[in-house]
Amino acid sequence: MLDDVLVADDPLYEELYDVRKEAESVGNFIDVGTVMPRVHQLRAQAPVHKGKLREILGLPEHDRHVYAKGRQHYSVLTYEACEAAFRDAATFSNTVQGHPNPAGERTMGILEMDPPMHRGFRRTIQPKFLMPEALGWWRTRTIDGIVERLIERMGKSERADLNLDYCARIPVYTITTAIGLNGDEALRFRHAYLNSTSSSHNISMDERIRNARIVEETLLALIGARHAEPQDDLISFLLGTKLMLPGEEPRPLTDREIMTHAKLVMVAGGGTSWRQMGITLFALLTHRDQLEAVKQDRALIDDAIEEGLRWNPTAPYFYRMVMKDTEFYGHHIAEGSVLELGLGPANRDPARWDRPDAFDMRRPKLTNMAFGLGTHRCLGMNVARVEIDRAINALLDHFPNLRLDPAAPAPFMTGGLEQQGVSALRVLLR
Ligand code: HEM
Repeated sequence: MLDDVLVADDPLYEELYDVRKEAESVGNFIDVGTVMPRVHQLRAQAPVHKGKLREILGLPEHDRHVYAKGRQHYSVLTYEACEAAFRDAATFSNTVQGHPNPAGERTMGILEMDPPMHRGFRRTIQPKFLMPEALGWWRTRTIDGIVERLIERMGKSERADLNLDYCARIPVYTITTAIGLNGDEALRFRHAYLNSTSSSHNISMDERIRNARIVEETLLALIGARHAEPQDDLISFLLGTKLMLPGEEPRPLTDREIMTHAKLVMVAGGGTSWRQMGITLFALLTHRDQLEAVKQDRALIDDAIEEGLRWNPTAPYFYRMVMKDTEFYGHHIAEGSVLELGLGPANRDPARWDRPDAFDMRRPKLTNMAFGLGTHRCLGMNVARVEIDRAINALLDHFPNLRLDPAAPAPFMTGGLEQQGVSALRVLLR
């Protein structure tokens, strides 16, 4: 059944997997190409600037988080200052990424929790996301089969749009089926989720509530089914774990806590890997010498992925709430202010990288910030890396002549300040 839906022509792909449309639908679309030159100028003046980056850059207003609204913002643009904030979770809190909830639930799960609660909850799910699991359980159970089927489908044509035919399909099926849902629920579930959040633009409150109900009912029904009959999936794994919080007896997660974990990994893993896979392919297809080097030595794919993450991380900004008055890089920052941590700008900081705007997978290996740092470092980073690695390897195995289609418009980076990716990636396969 997975096979059929995976390769079907569903109009929802175009609706959900167009980076520009996605940005327009959340109301944050900008001309992304104009940002980095201005960021370089600002960073040269100071590592941290008072104000919202959008305002400083003269971009249209957009409120990303309800809890950040109306507060004093500071924009952090160097690697060193971002690292200092990421590593001090007591002063710079993730609560800003939550949503008000009448029942007091943390609807964004671990993403909006601070230590020690964060540590307790993260430990219940983390074992399934370590590299051996990514290379073992995730790859062999799911990723390899999906990639193989998509390659087979593309093999029937001369041309493809790698964005819609390939990058869009791998992460959404990987994450949906890993959770335990059927592949045929993947697109509809993502559609319902995206239309249930407060960032969905132009969607009435009634529609949001209706979609939120679909998401919750789907997941709670799945959890109920796995209570009765566990399977080899993430929900069954979570049903078997124990939550350990300081001062409390270890206990199983409640169904709603499991649902929140599942919702978060679906949203965090569904869009990011899609866009980052496209960015990595875009980088290689527009840097032919590096693509040739990768073809000769597949071990270089890992370097290309890391350099793609440094060069253009798909999620270049994350926020923190300031929990106490603090001195930070020349500013007296009052409790209740918000930091906008520029991982994208940090990844192009000339104090850390020579020629920071160039995509060069041969540069010396240094940690970059695409997956964040410290307490909240991306839970899914190993899965994302394996997805992108398997996707590129399979393309090169089957289409060694892969190249951009000269008859199609050249691809370019697009999206919003807060999430970026590539337009269509039209290629010739033979
Ligand atoms: C290339 C793709 C990805 C990128 C660039 C990315 C980026 C990030 C970043 C920057 C954070 C830190 C947020 C913060 O500090 O506030 C994060 C957290 C997270 N990511 Fe990813 N991510 C990717 C893929 C994935 C995947 C595939 C999954 C799941 C399968 C995932 C699940 C999560 C979760 C659950 C968190 C919250 C972790 C926590 O708060 O402890 N991500 N991600």
